[in-house]
Amino acid sequence: MRKHYFLLTIIFLTWSVVRAQERIDVHTRNMSLVFNVGADKKLYQSYMGSRIAAAAVPADTTVESYPQGGGSYLFEPAIRMVHADGNPSLDLRVASWKVDSMDTNVRVTSILMKDPVYPVSVVLELRAYSREDVITSKVLIRHDEPQPVKVSHFASSMLHFHADSYWLTQFHGDWAREMHMDESRLTSGIKIVDSKLGSRADMYQTPAFLLSLDRSSSEEEGEVLAGTLAWSGSFQLLFEVDEKDRLSVAAGMNPYASDYVLDPGKTLPTPEFIFTYSNKGRGQASRNLHAWARSYGVLNGKGPRMTLLNNWESTQFAFNEPKLDSLFGETRKLGADLFLLDDGWFGNKYPRNDDHTSLGDWQENKTKLPHGIARLEKAAAAQGVKFGIWVEPEMVSPKSELYEKHPDWVLKLPNRSEHYFRNQLVLDLVNPAVQDFVFKTVDDLLTQHSGIAYIKWDCNRMMTNEYSPYLGFRQTNLYVDYVRSLYAVLDRLRAKHPSVPMMLCSGGGGRTDYGALKYFTEFWPSDNTDAVERVYIQWGYSYFFPANTIACHVTSWGKEPLKFRTDVAMMGRLGYDLDVSKMKEKELAFSQQALKDYRRLSGTIGQGDLFRLLSPYDRERAALMYVDADKKKAVLFGYVLYPRYGSTWPPVKLQGLDGQKSYRVREINRYPGVHGVLVEDGKKLSGEYLMKVGLNILRADALSSAVIEITEE
Ligand code: GLA
Repeated sequence: MRKHYFLLTIIFLTWSVVRAQERIDVHTRNMSLVFNVGADKKLYQSYMGSRIAAAAVPADTTVESYPQGGGSYLFEPAIRMVHADGNPSLDLRVASWKVDSMDTNVRVTSILMKDPVYPVSVVLELRAYSREDVITSKVLIRHDEPQPVKVSHFASSMLHFHADSYWLTQFHGDWAREMHMDESRLTSGIKIVDSKLGSRADMYQTPAFLLSLDRSSSEEEGEVLAGTLAWSGSFQLLFEVDEKDRLSVAAGMNPYASDYVLDPGKTLPTPEFIFTYSNKGRGQASRNLHAWARSYGVLNGKGPRMTLLNNWESTQFAFNEPKLDSLFGETRKLGADLFLLDDGWFGNKYPRNDDHTSLGDWQENKTKLPHGIARLEKAAAAQGVKFGIWVEPEMVSPKSELYEKHPDWVLKLPNRSEHYFRNQLVLDLVNPAVQDFVFKTVDDLLTQHSGIAYIKWDCNRMMTNEYSPYLGFRQTNLYVDYVRSLYAVLDRLRAKHPSVPMMLCSGGGGRTDYGALKYFTEFWPSDNTDAVERVYIQWGYSYFFPANTIACHVTSWGKEPLKFRTDVAMMGRLGYDLDVSKMKEKELAFSQQALKDYRRLSGTIGQGDLFRLLSPYDRERAALMYVDADKKKAVLFGYVLYPRYGSTWPPVKLQGLDGQKSYRVREINRYPGVHGVLVEDGKKLSGEYLMKVGLNILRADALSSAVIEITEE
């Protein structure tokens, strides 16, 4: 009791009542966001950009920071609410604000805004990560009206800019062609990048962007804002250029079909919008986000990752115990840490032999696995490899015992025929009984099998049939509540199993967002593992995600040389998904060595600073490098894709090294019996030379590549 009293006192004391014309400034090491509370107690954004002393910013009242719909604001609002009495307007005035220092690096600024007439409060919460130069923004919406209200706009953040021109880089695609990068100039009016996929965010459009101010930014130059939304469902990024050429950027859950019915006394929290600002180009913006992700955004972001052999590409659904025994042996022979058993191990009344049946029936298939998972755990351990398993717990096949038993646990429209995607349906996760089932599915696997060291959690479809039998008259809460329910299940799971590595997968890259990644150690960026395609796909993700979160497998999808495929997969969490028994002697020897080298270098690749040196979007080649924080070790990757006849390439100038240090440069991942690429192989060169003159790592041949280990000596 005394403790509670003490806590309440602290909270009471730290909220300070606001004065008119008061400045509220949020800073990181190199970035500032400054607000001003006007005489009318409204919240205005006075400044957003590189670090500035708050006192140097005039108390501006031109641009309202978090504008509300229904009053005099004539553009797209950040928030809009219809009150219990039908009044469709909101009027937010700052009541108080406080700053909490979580530690020496993280400060949380909370700005409490209230409507003077209706009992509605909105807290804008900004979390500043000083060292990483990242701010996250979210709002908490609450009311105490007598009846529910409807919230129809609920941006996590609205930021405002006034520049000469605005250049938006967006990422879009489809299955197997994720993260295509496009840049366009924003013109007057609204540009929306959104998705309405419900159970996944990404696939057609990605919830992340780069915004360059005044002119298009390069890797090393220009002002750029990089932002991404931590949400695994329908999202909206909205860019509006007004009549005075000012830009507002709103990021949040998609308001589409989502008038949220909010009960009295309940809080609607929005997801976090994560952003960084750099006036030194996109490279710095990415490095900021990577550093933030490793410390705060991803589960075990600083920990090591396991290499693995997956069986999806080589066996699909056709395997049994003897086959898996041989695959455990191949995992060991290859030298990978873990074997990952993919789809197809479950279902008895309806055995999972293709993708038409069995989702929901998470019991070992007795024909393929007569002795169950327990035997697989033991057999893998006997070979000295770890064991991981695939699940898709949010889904159900119409042909399954689960569907027969619980037809009301499924999202489906009344009076309409069911719409299938990959022959399956989405479970009604907002129903607490379904949440228990999904939790139990994964919890049972982990509790009953201590040998399960890794989970691949898939979600192979978006939401259609958008009707929850559980929600009744509140169907417009479905998009929002589905994702909140998913996070509630993941919270429970992580409370009980805090550290087991999990891969986030969604039919390729359908879930690539920091909302889910806080529960996962890595994500599957695309089912497309053709190495040339992967150069582009991984390039796109590299703007927002560090290499240790990007799962990259060497497969037989593309027809590039094994060396090229391996070099590309080494730029992430390296794995294999091919038939090892069919490898020729040299191929096996090369792969075994690659895994050994990767183990030595994965710390630098996964934790180091990324420098994108040559973009595959400019010409048909690419180069990237990763540098340790102490600049003692670096790994350089170079690729020639499909060059024009007679193309030649100058040396590649490196970045991020210490000019004063000397480095030994050594080409690794050389294919047995084939000449390496690096002209300077084995030489000791100064950091200055490497950055001013560079290394010859690009050969004229199509699909040639090189990996260079750079070590201070
Ligand atoms: C999805 C995943 C694949 C594989 C299959 C299994 O497509 O992206 O990697 O796991 O499901 O059905």
